[in-house]
Amino acid sequence: MTFPLLPQPASVEPAAGHFLLNPRVTVDATPQQSRVVGALLGVVALPSTDAHLTVRLDDSLPTEGYQLTVTPERVTILVGTDAALPWALQTLRQLMPDEVFGAPVITPQPVPCCTITDSPRFGWRGGMIDVARHFLPFADLLRLVDQLAAHKFNRLHLHLADDQGWRFESLKYPELTRVGACRPETLHPYHGTDRTPHGGYYSQAQLRRLVSHAASRGITVVPELDFPGHASAALAAYPQHGVEGFAVGHPATGFGVLENVLNLDDDCLAFVFDLFDELLDVFPSQWIHIGGDEVPRTQWRESEASQQRAAQLGLTSVEELQPWFTRQLVNHLRARGRTPIGWDEVADDGPVAGLVCHAWRSADKALPSARAGGEVIVAPVQGTYLDYYPSDLPTEQWCIGGPTPTRTVYEFNPTDGFEDVADRVIGTQFQLWTEYVASMSRVEYLIWPRACALGEVAWSTPEGRSWDEFSTRLAAHTRRLDAAGINHRPQEGPLPWQRGGHGRQSRGPHQN
Ligand code: ACM
Repeated sequence: MTFPLLPQPASVEPAAGHFLLNPRVTVDATPQQSRVVGALLGVVALPSTDAHLTVRLDDSLPTEGYQLTVTPERVTILVGTDAALPWALQTLRQLMPDEVFGAPVITPQPVPCCTITDSPRFGWRGGMIDVARHFLPFADLLRLVDQLAAHKFNRLHLHLADDQGWRFESLKYPELTRVGACRPETLHPYHGTDRTPHGGYYSQAQLRRLVSHAASRGITVVPELDFPGHASAALAAYPQHGVEGFAVGHPATGFGVLENVLNLDDDCLAFVFDLFDELLDVFPSQWIHIGGDEVPRTQWRESEASQQRAAQLGLTSVEELQPWFTRQLVNHLRARGRTPIGWDEVADDGPVAGLVCHAWRSADKALPSARAGGEVIVAPVQGTYLDYYPSDLPTEQWCIGGPTPTRTVYEFNPTDGFEDVADRVIGTQFQLWTEYVASMSRVEYLIWPRACALGEVAWSTPEGRSWDEFSTRLAAHTRRLDAAGINHRPQEGPLPWQRGGHGRQSRGPHQN
C-alpha cells in the first residue's frame, strides 16, 4: 500500500518530496474549472498563468479519466473532459492528512509527490436513497452528496415517492404534498405504532439547489417517481386516479407490497405525464427513473372498469396494462430527449426498447434486456441492498434482510453472468430503502463502509484487487470517515465492545 487511496486508482507512482497546498492557491484553469477546484478543495482559487495548480484537457484520456502529477513546485491535473476534474480533486484530497477529508483546507497542507493515472471501470456508479419511507431533511441530502462524491460515485438516485409518502413538490398538483407527504403514524412489525405523524417534502427550489450542488461535485441526481404501483400516497391525494372501489384514505402507515395501483385511464395518464414533465423541468438528468417494481394486478383483475380499459386499448387482459403503461411513459420521456430507467419488473414481459433495465431481484433479470442490446444497471439485492443487516450480530438494529457484510459487497462483480454482453452493463449502485431507517446517522451507519466497497467495485478494475488488501486500505480510510464525522459502522467482525474481555453489554456509540 503506497497511499491508502479508496477507490483504488489504476496506477500510482510515488515520488520524493511534498507539495504544500495553500488555502489561497493560484490556479491556471478555465473559470468553470477554477470554481470546481475552489468548491472541492475548500480553497480560494486565484487565477494565474504561473500557477501552483494547473488543469488541462487531454483528449487521449477517457471521459472521466485523469492524470494527477504532484511535484514540490506544483500540481498538474490532466483530464479527459471536465467530468474527470472532481475525481482528480477527490484523489488529491485523500493524499492530504486525514483531517482534511470532508473539510475545507484552512491551513497549508502537505501533498506527497506522485503521479496517479486513473479512470473508472463503469460510467454508472450510483447510490439510491429512499426518501419516501422516511423523509431525510434537505441538509442531509447535501451531506450525502458530499460523501458519495468523496468515493467517486457519480449518480444519486432519489426515490421520491412511494406508498408511505410523496416528497416532490408539484405546482400543478398541490394535494400531493398537502395530503400525500404526511402519514398519521408508522407501524413497525414488532413494535407496533409510534403514534407519531411523519412527513416532509422538498420544494422545487431545494431540489434545483441539490442538482446544482451535486453537479459541481460530478454527481447527476436521477429522480424516480414510482408508478403504477407503490402509489398509495399519490392516490390518497388524488383518489380519482385509483381503481374504483379501493379507496386510500392517507399515505400508508405500514410497509410491504401494497395493492393500490393507478387506474391508467386517460385522465390518470395525463396526470402522470404532467408530473414527469414537472420532474424534467427540475432535474436536467439524462436519466429519469420510472419505477415499475412490485405491481400487484389484483385490483385491475377485480375491477370491471380496468377490464374495459384493457379491452378499449386492444389488450388481451388487464395483465398487459403495466407493459402498455411502461411503453407510454418510455415514449413520453424519449420524445423529450431523456432516457428512462425501470426496475427489472418492467421487462418481465420482454425487453423494453429505449429503457435502461435496473436489475434488483437478481442480476440475471437484466440478461434478456442486455442480450437484446439494451443498457443495464446491475444492482441485485444480494450484494447491493444496504438496508440489509451489515452483520449477523444480535445487537444490530432491525433490518429488512441479510446479512450483507462489507466483504459480500466487495466481492460482488456486476458483470458476472454477463460475459457475452459485458459492454451492456453500464454499472451498479447501492440501494438504501428506509422503512426502518429514520435518521441520517442511521443512513450513515448502514451505508459506510459498505459503500466504500461498492464504490471500489464500480470504479476500479477487478484485476489485482483483493479483500485482504482492500481491508488494509479501508482501515486507513476509516480514519478519514472519522475525521469527517461520518457515523460509519466499524469494519467487519464484532464491534469493539463485543470482542470480549470487558463484559460490557452496551449498544455502543455506533448504534443509532
Ligand atoms: C425494490 O426493491 N422493490 C426495487
